[in-house]
Parts: sequence; structure tokens; C-alpha cells
Amino acid sequence: MKPEIRVFQNREKLAIAVAKDWKEGAQQATRSGNKFSVALCGGSTPTVVYRCLAGEEFRQSIPWSSVHLFWGDERCVPPEDMESNFRMAQELLIDHVSIPEKNINRIKGEADPITEAVQYGEKMRGHFGSGEKGIPSFDWVILGLGLDGHTASIFPHANSSYRDLGLCAVTAHPESGQKRITMTPKIFNQALRVTFLVTGKEKASIVKDIIGEDVCAENYPAKQVSPVGGILQWWVDEEAYSALR
Ligand code: 6PG
Repeated sequence: MKPEIRVFQNREKLAIAVAKDWKEGAQQATRSGNKFSVALCGGSTPTVVYRCLAGEEFRQSIPWSSVHLFWGDERCVPPEDMESNFRMAQELLIDHVSIPEKNINRIKGEADPITEAVQYGEKMRGHFGSGEKGIPSFDWVILGLGLDGHTASIFPHANSSYRDLGLCAVTAHPESGQKRITMTPKIFNQALRVTFLVTGKEKASIVKDIIGEDVCAENYPAKQVSPVGGILQWWVDEEAYSALR
């Protein structure tokens, strides 16, 4: 699948574009009586998007009662831990908007990882119903990209087993050994829309490898993301795109 690549002058302009589409998607869902289900990524990149969504222009105009939040991955830490992807979203977004508590589906990083991986999969099935082929189909999956080509918490080399895994898996960060719970490509590839958000000069080389070269998905897990019936987007800022100029 040929991804749609969009280069933004800076991360702020990228965040505004995400917020505008988020608003449009939530309003459309509200009009048709549907849910707008989004899987958020972790890491630091989405913080600029959270701040934009919580800002004056969008906080009031997005129908938050239609928005349902999930996480593509979570560190196996308590929700108040500085490492928690949920905590970051709570601090910068959730605490500032009127999203109902029941619409927030965090991965319980404090729970037993294997048990939570299974339970989170069941939670998604409950939210989406059986779905096509029994796999949840998100309206929007937002992903980040690690310097080694990982996405969510799917790290290089260890990912071959994901093909036949369930909806979620337990992994470990290759350097820190930190346990993670992650959605698998099975879910990402069933989404209606998947957008990689990548900013900053330090990502220029990996962005070139991933979207500029024909690299092997085994070594670059982000290459495993190819929505079968959905849109694949790479939204990057000029700095992250600079090696392809
Ligand atoms: C995580 C993420 C991970 C992240 C990338 C990019 O839990 O860390 O899901 O995949 O998106 O590592 O992280 P930065 O945005 O901090 O560069």
C-alpha cells in the first residue's frame, strides 16, 4: 500500500492538522450516532497534539461524548508513573476536556501483563463487537516511530511471532527490558485510518529508511503496518523529512 506522505513546516502545524481531522471525525460520528474510536500512541511526539486538542480552539468544539480513547501500547507501570502513556494523555488532554470517564479505556500497566493483554483484547472486542474477521476496526490509529523502526511496543527482530498472535501482546524494551503491553499489527491493519506522527531531526534517518527505502519489516516493525482497507499516512515535520529532501 502506498502511504500518503504529508510534510508540515513544524510540529505545531502538524498538531493543528491532526486536531482538525479529530474534530471532523468526532462531529461526523456524532451526526450518525456512532462512536469515534481512537488508539493513541505513547512517547513524547503526541504531547503537541494533546496540547492542541486541549486548547481554546478545539476543547469546546469537539463533541467529546462521541470520542472513545484506547492506547496502542502501555508501559507496565502504574498510571501515575512518569513513564505511563496514559498519565501523559491524562495530564495534557483528558483533564482538560469533557470526555466521559467510561470512554477512556486505558491499558492497566499496573496489572499482570499477560492477564491485562488478554483482558484488553476482550475490552476491544466488547467495544467494537465481533467486527470483520473478529478484529476491532478503529476509526483512527495514531502511531509513533522509534529510532530503531519500532512502533507501539513492537520492537525489531522479536516481532515475527506477532503474525499469529492475538490482539495484544506482552513485549520488553530491548535496552531497558521494561515490560510493555502492545496492540499487534493485526489491529493496526484493520483500522480505517492509520497515521504515523514523526517529528524532529533525530528521526530523519529512520524516516528515510522506512518510507524512502524498501526495508524488511522484520527489522523495521513499522513496515508491518499496512491497513488492508484503510488509509496509511505519514505525517512528518520538515526536520523528520530532511533526509528525503
Ligand atoms: C511508547 C510508544 C513508542 C513511541 C516511539 C516514539 O510507548 O514509547 O508507543 O512506540 O511512539 O518510541 O517515541 P517519541 O515520540 O518519544 O520519539
